[in-house]
Amino acid sequence: MFEDIKNINHEVHNFKSKSSQEIEDFRISYLGKKGKITLLFNKFKEVPVSDKKEFGKQLNILKTAALDKITTLKSSLNDRPKSSKSNLDYTIPGQPTEIGSRHPITIIRDRITNIFSQIGFNVSEGPEIEDDWHNFTALNFPEEHPARDMQDTFFINKDIALRTHTSSVQVRVMENSQPPIRTISPGRVYRNEAISARAHCFFHQVEGLYIDKDVSFADMKQTLLYFTKAMFGNETKIRLRPSYFPFTEPSAEVDVSCTICNSKGCNVCKYSGWLEIMGCGMVDPNVLENCKIDPDIYSGYAFGMGIERIAQLIYEVNDLRLYSENDLRFLKQFTTESY
Ligand code: PHE
Repeated sequence: MFEDIKNINHEVHNFKSKSSQEIEDFRISYLGKKGKITLLFNKFKEVPVSDKKEFGKQLNILKTAALDKITTLKSSLNDRPKSSKSNLDYTIPGQPTEIGSRHPITIIRDRITNIFSQIGFNVSEGPEIEDDWHNFTALNFPEEHPARDMQDTFFINKDIALRTHTSSVQVRVMENSQPPIRTISPGRVYRNEAISARAHCFFHQVEGLYIDKDVSFADMKQTLLYFTKAMFGNETKIRLRPSYFPFTEPSAEVDVSCTICNSKGCNVCKYSGWLEIMGCGMVDPNVLENCKIDPDIYSGYAFGMGIERIAQLIYEVNDLRLYSENDLRFLKQFTTESY
C-alpha cells in the first residue's frame, strides 16, 4: 500500500503538460471517482490499524500534491496568453495611414472638365492608338503636312500611329452623332519630341467641339472667356491672335493675361503680359463634310489646350518632366484644395 502511494507520488511529480485537456484527463485519472488516489482512499479500511495513521497522513499529502500540481499547471496555461497580451497597449494611437493624393494633371483635368460641363459639354474619349483617317485625313491635313512627318508622329505602321491630339476623338463623335454636339475630349497624346523641361514625348490635352445651327466666332470667344475666368479668376482677360490649323478656318491662338505677374511683365510671360494657352477656330467645312455633317446647315467651333500648360500656370511648375517622374516629394504637394 505504502508502495502504491510512493509510485503514484512519483507519477504526480513527473507529470507535465501544456494542454488543458491533458490536465483535465490527469485530474480524472487520479482524483476522479475511479481515480488512482480516490481508490487508495477507498482501500483505507483494509489498512492494518497500526498503519492507519501514517497511511492517512501520506495519502492526504499525496492528494494535496496532486491538487497543487493541477493548479500550477492550469495557472501556467492562463499565464501565457496573459503575458503576451500585456505587451500590447491598446491606448497607443495607430500608425498613420498614408493617403494618396490626386496627380496634378488629374486635378487640372477634372477642373477643366467641370467648368465645361456646367455649360452643357459632355465628355468623350477615344483610342490612343489611332488610324490616319481620324488623326489626320478627316481633319483636313494635306498629304504633305509636316505634322504627319516621322519627326512629330510615332507611327506604328503606315496607317496606324499614336494620336498626336484628341481632335481624333471629335472626328469619332461627329461620325457617330448629329448636331447639336457639345463635347470635350480629355486624354493623353504623343509627339516624337526630345524630352526636356519644355517638351515631352507625351502630354495631355482637353479639346472641345461645339456644332449646331448658327454657331459663331463670337460664341466661341464668349465660351473661352467664361472658361478662362472660371479657371484663372474673374479678372482674367483674353486676346485672340490669328493662327493656322488645317481643321479650323479662321483659326486663332488664345492668350490670357499673365496670371503670375498680373500682366505687369515677368519671365514666364516674357515681359509681354500675355500667356498662350490654347488654339481654337471655326470647324473647317471640309471637316464637317468628312464626318457626314452638312456644312450648309451647321457650323461649329473647336478648341484645344494642353493640361500641362494650364497646370504650369496654376502651380507655377516650369519643368514638364516632373509630371511623369513620380517623385513623391513632388506629388505630395498637390491636393484638390491647393488651387
Ligand atoms: N488639335 C490642336 C493641337 O493639338 C489644337 C486645336 C484644337 C486647335 C481645336 C484648334 C482647334 O494642337
